[in-house]
Amino acid sequence: MKEKSLTEIWHGPEMESFRREHLAGLQSQCSRSQKDHACHLHHGHLEQYAKFDTSLQYPPIRLDFMVDSFCNLKCVMCTNVLEDNGGYDHDEFWDHCAQHIFPHVKELEIIGGEPFILDNTFRLIDLVTKHNPDCLWRVTTNAHYQFNERFKKAADKMKFESLAVSVDSLKQDTFSQIRAGARLDLVLKTLDDWVDYSQSRPADKPLKIVVNFVIQKDNAYELPSFIDFCLKKSVVPYPILLRDPDDYSIFDWPSDRLLDLFDYLLEHHKAEPHPSLALICHKIFKELPKATQVIRVEKLTRLLAKESQAQST
Ligand SMILES: C[S@@+](CC[C@H](N)C(=O)[O-])C[C@H]1O[C@@H](n2cnc3c(N)ncnc32)[C@H](O)[C@@H]1O
Ligand code: SF4
Repeated sequence: MKEKSLTEIWHGPEMESFRREHLAGLQSQCSRSQKDHACHLHHGHLEQYAKFDTSLQYPPIRLDFMVDSFCNLKCVMCTNVLEDNGGYDHDEFWDHCAQHIFPHVKELEIIGGEPFILDNTFRLIDLVTKHNPDCLWRVTTNAHYQFNERFKKAADKMKFESLAVSVDSLKQDTFSQIRAGARLDLVLKTLDDWVDYSQSRPADKPLKIVVNFVIQKDNAYELPSFIDFCLKKSVVPYPILLRDPDDYSIFDWPSDRLLDLFDYLLEHHKAEPHPSLALICHKIFKELPKATQVIRVEKLTRLLAKESQAQST
């Protein structure tokens, strides 16, 4: 990024070979992520704008934009904190994007580090909304700051797909263990401020608030109460199964431990069904040893039969 413009990279040999590999179905660099996260299926809604070719005449239609990996927290499971800080601080990058990239982008996702503690995030929002007010934004934030007029002014200019707030536990102890250095009360207050703000927006510019919950060893049994919390707040729960680093992942547990969690979540799903609980149960099930799966299939079959019967009546 500091040696070439984004346009040069987009049309360069590395990108062409990357596209060629995908078009041939040889996505070796991505196959693990595609299996674990289905990331290749996340953006189907943009397919109408896309052409599938090795070289493309038009600029990118979607950007995942990490302004900087700098963060005000040091969550134990986050690998972003290992990256160099610094980000895009050279004016050529911004001038180039303002002229050639931002006017054409359909969707922009801000990732991090923590985006909302960076002046350059507000610079990005100003630039993109000025050149391209219809761009759809997705933002993920740790909400470890006080919501104020600056956020409101920036958000007022944006059309959102969603804003995700990361809350990995609602228990003070577990929260401060996972989100090291963070205060749960501040995060919950800022979440409430974002929710209040979302309700004040005009109907043609809705803001869907999502709450992320990265499932790991320390909080896995908290998932049902987290979903309950989200339903009460009318926000969308978004559980994410942590796989890397291994030490924090539930898939590092022996199979009897994993089975215990599976049974626990399934019991909750039976009592109060929720699609994200079903999805997590399904993903955990796929990781159980085959012999255990066979026994549990009977249990699942009974549950499914009961649910489909309930739906048809
Ligand atoms: C890297 S953070 C960046 C945005 C912001 N700092 C935050 O925490 O929301 C984006 C999301 O990734 C999650 N995350 C962190 N470490 C992860 C890991 N090892 N695996 C999966 N998700 C992770 C965070 O909890 C957060 O929901
Ligand atoms: S707040 Fe986000 S970026 Fe910062 S350490 Fe935690 S997960 Fe990583």
